[in-house]
Amino acid sequence: MQKLAIEGGFPLRGEIRISGAKNAALPILCAALLSRDALVVENVPHLKDVTTMIGLLAQMGVGITLESPSRVELSGTTITSPVAPYELVKTMRASILVLGPLLARMGEASVSLPGGCAIGLRPVDLHIKGLQAMGAQIRVENGYIHAKASRLTGARIFMDLVSVTGTENLMMAATLAKGVTVIENAAREPEVVDLAECLASMGARISGAGTDTITIEGVDELHGARHRIMPDRIESGTFLVAAAASRGNIRLNGARADILDAVLDKLIESGAHIEVDMDSISLEMKGRPKSVNVRTAPYPAFPTDMQAQFMVLDSIGEGSARITETIFENRFMHAQELCRMGANIEVEGNTAMVRGQAHLGAATVMATDLRASASLVIAGLVAQGETTIERIYHIDRGYECIEEKLAQLGAKIRRID
Ligand code: UD1
Repeated sequence: MQKLAIEGGFPLRGEIRISGAKNAALPILCAALLSRDALVVENVPHLKDVTTMIGLLAQMGVGITLESPSRVELSGTTITSPVAPYELVKTMRASILVLGPLLARMGEASVSLPGGCAIGLRPVDLHIKGLQAMGAQIRVENGYIHAKASRLTGARIFMDLVSVTGTENLMMAATLAKGVTVIENAAREPEVVDLAECLASMGARISGAGTDTITIEGVDELHGARHRIMPDRIESGTFLVAAAASRGNIRLNGARADILDAVLDKLIESGAHIEVDMDSISLEMKGRPKSVNVRTAPYPAFPTDMQAQFMVLDSIGEGSARITETIFENRFMHAQELCRMGANIEVEGNTAMVRGQAHLGAATVMATDLRASASLVIAGLVAQGETTIERIYHIDRGYECIEEKLAQLGAKIRRID
């Protein structure tokens, strides 16, 4: 199994390019299932999750052409098998995103239940309830969701909880339904907007994406299109925190500041100097960061996918901070590993009290999930000595060329086989 070795103590300096967003790419690749014509997707990040999704779509009969490393053409002319098997779904929960489009286009779908997940239970009841409201017959049997509908019908759907992939699944299904669908309490995440823009360029009639009420007027069919994936706001945020923690000075090219308000505000509160441009964000941190309280919530509030990284910043911050996780019930596994590096963190329920320390020390630590592994990399960058991070396959799910990009910024980092 591969590991990362990081020698800490070098401030990040220089510039890198931000990749396409994983959480936009995954639903947008699934949108190819909605049309017989080809969908060309640009700025696709090279990530394990993207490869898994492409493999899943190929297995269903979608023709895949890699036009260039980051440009994929997907042709959904013939879907031979509307099935997402357990072997693939268990490695990537976002596989559930094929359910809505398959059902809408093919009239049937069988998708394995994702099951438990390291960061919490993460059920898919909202996806199922929404599709049932649109007239789908759904059975859950032998660990699979079996869905059927000769044609989905538009419906008014109220989501009990804000769910990102739930909103995306229902929005995709509604594009081919008969009549109008209104999704209330919809997720407002920028990735939902990116998907809506892609669907609109395929001929879908969608309004309200980016607000909590999305209206979709179903059409008989969608056509081919070309779409460029938005930049990854979580990758951007992760590099900004890494630069702040290491007291560095970096510039992220191809990044969007307008979708990172909550994160940038917290970085400024911690003492960072930030400058934004049309498509770049620069950060400079001169002294020791100040501790900042963080409370995760759906967009536009502070993202749960940035919580672990801020826990490292607070671990070396001046003062104490409270981190509250309101989205996932078990997303503090990185706290224990950070404590092994000298952090002072007390977890009680969904709150972590972090007392800032002057230094962290290197240790061998284990990555437990995607964003937790990013936090351990940041901790390694600032700790004294050489940190080894095990189980880094988690990080390859969501960060493109992380060690190349960090090395470009002056980090002493290497991958060990
Ligand atoms: C997406 C993101 C993930 C991010 C998360 C929250 C993708 C591919 N992944 O995950 O990176 O951390 O949003 O911003 O975009 N829930 C239910 N029933 C459901 C669906 C969700 O109870 O049917 C609950 C979940 O357990 C969780 C909360 O709703 O507590 C939010 O989850 P959700 O927004 O659905 O997360 P994902 O879409 O899986």
